[in-house]
Amino acid sequence: MLDSAEEVSRRAAELIAETVQRNPDCVLGLATGGTPLGTYGELIRMYREGAVSFSRVTTFNLDEYVGLSADHPQSYRYFMGVNLFQHVDLDSNRCHVPDGLAEDYDSYCTSYEDLLRKSGGIDLQLLGIGTDGHIGFNEPGSSLGSRTRLKGLTEQTVRDNARFFDSIEQVPRLAVTMGVGTILEARRILLIATGSNKAGAVRSFIEGPITSQITASALQLHPATTVLLDRAAADWLQRKEYYQHVERLQREIELRAREPENASSPKGRRRKGSTQK
Ligand code: F6R
Repeated sequence: MLDSAEEVSRRAAELIAETVQRNPDCVLGLATGGTPLGTYGELIRMYREGAVSFSRVTTFNLDEYVGLSADHPQSYRYFMGVNLFQHVDLDSNRCHVPDGLAEDYDSYCTSYEDLLRKSGGIDLQLLGIGTDGHIGFNEPGSSLGSRTRLKGLTEQTVRDNARFFDSIEQVPRLAVTMGVGTILEARRILLIATGSNKAGAVRSFIEGPITSQITASALQLHPATTVLLDRAAADWLQRKEYYQHVERLQREIELRAREPENASSPKGRRRKGSTQK
């Protein structure tokens, strides 16, 4: 848990940049929406300062509205261009956003999954969460084993996303989205959530049962998911104190692992590892 949305953005960008620095050829899974905007801003800043280069990185976006062309200002392809791709040294041939105008979605979705597999799979997947608990556009009731496919949006999601359009009537009702099963195959997942409107979904997916009614709850099955929350989004968590305690332990372990070689005696031996759910 972090103090503010700005801190969530900073920390998320640091984790993404660390992934790229460790493996310049990595594959990133990217999200759109209001939440990751600050993270992308931070990544652009780090790129401009010379702290990170994306020149060999491949990206796959989670989803796209059906019926919107790549140059439509509300399409997710356009969003990614304006908010990240145009400002860093990503190779546009390696930036993949699902096509909102595909003719045959069955074969298109299969080819998106094939491309993802051929690229080696996602090393780090960035996620937001919908107020109905969706990840990608996997709305309540989506199979937890689902793959990339078309999905009808719930009225709640249409209402939530109307803020990006001139009127609610303009919000597409259909999207193409990676499935929950596709997302769970990422080697590492980073979910960010900020603001009090996410507090209910956050509590449900972390502390509730695993259920297709809150598709983010499937992340409980993933062995390497990091969740970054601001205070407002974390507000309804019942075991908040315990999570903070675990975070402190984790930081201690990391600090100890960085200490200079005081490990010659068994007593001083550094303990490596992480505290995990
Ligand atoms: C977007 C996506 C969605 C959003 C979610 C939250 O690519 O996959 O799951 O992450 O709807 O959106 P914001 O961040 O606008 O609240």
